[in-house]
Amino acid sequence: MKIKELGLDDVRSVDWNEDENFVQLIDQRLIPFDFKINNYTSVVDLCDAIKTMVVRGAPAIGSTAAYGVALAIKEIEKEDNCNKKEKLDEKMEMILATRPTAVDLANFVFKTYTTAIETNYSFEDTLLKARSLTDEMVEECKTIGDRGLEIINDGDAILTHCNAGPLATVDYGTALAPIIQAHRKGKGVKVYVDETRPRLQGAKITAWELEQEGIDHEIIADSVAAYLMSKNKINKVILGADRCLKDGTISNKIGTYSIAVNAKYHNIPFYSSFPWSTIDHDSNSAEEFEIELRSEDEVKSFVHKEGKILIANPNSKAFNPAFDITPPKLISGYITAKGVLTTEELVQKIKEK
Ligand code: MRU
Repeated sequence: MKIKELGLDDVRSVDWNEDENFVQLIDQRLIPFDFKINNYTSVVDLCDAIKTMVVRGAPAIGSTAAYGVALAIKEIEKEDNCNKKEKLDEKMEMILATRPTAVDLANFVFKTYTTAIETNYSFEDTLLKARSLTDEMVEECKTIGDRGLEIINDGDAILTHCNAGPLATVDYGTALAPIIQAHRKGKGVKVYVDETRPRLQGAKITAWELEQEGIDHEIIADSVAAYLMSKNKINKVILGADRCLKDGTISNKIGTYSIAVNAKYHNIPFYSSFPWSTIDHDSNSAEEFEIELRSEDEVKSFVHKEGKILIANPNSKAFNPAFDITPPKLISGYITAKGVLTTEELVQKIKEK
């Protein structure tokens, strides 16, 4: 399935329909088997879409949540004699509770909420804020692609994990942005795509996005990465982040930490790429925020086009943390719109803000 052939290559993974006032989401659960855009007219349904991962990827979740605040104002407008502040707070809490790790969600929600309060619950102004936050972030991802080009060489073999491509970031991607740019500029790159158990965002979504771009890639089981490193088959790691602390510690999809440890052991540069909305300006350590624990079901079964198949002993329990923590000493650089930064440079730029 090629989206160019479907004429849908300029469709954003998250958008607001101006004519009818609802949120549009590309249903990421169906990729690569089907391409469908869902419409959301209520905050409750939109929250459910975030929880069930119709939309996923920290920046895309942030944008969805911001549009969710605009949707909340639309709903409040329809209610007679309600306490607007109370109602908005209630709906905002509901949006914030959908997924805990991606800090873009809270960052985008608080900024949009502040606009709503400051403009006396103006729907137009709140929507404008949600849209401009999204547009700025998309523009940042485009710049990440340009700035990240400097670390990609012709002939690179790059390992990536999970999905930090255009779908996860509304457009352009973070980890994939420089790779796509390098390919478009004629650099020959090969990408090893970790399947990314348990939900297989790598095997399903990243592989599909690379195929759309015609980029040479192979899907590998997560456990293959260290072997390939030991055989000098990988010379760079580039992946995203769901949260970056003030000291450069990142939280990203489970499996990231073991890739970082293996990359360090094999002297392979390890880069994390993200927009500024992924920075957590409040937490001082990873202990201060919640790591999302997801259902046992995700580990014990595969979701297939035709449904779900049990692949494990039915009566065993499963432990399923969705993210892990990677300390700055394992990170060679941060690919941002402000350039490819060392930990010291990143920390300094976060302070400047
Ligand atoms: O749980 P998900 O699929 O929402 O995972 C988040 C991610 O997409 C990844 O961790 C990604 O690498 C960073 S966010 C672009």
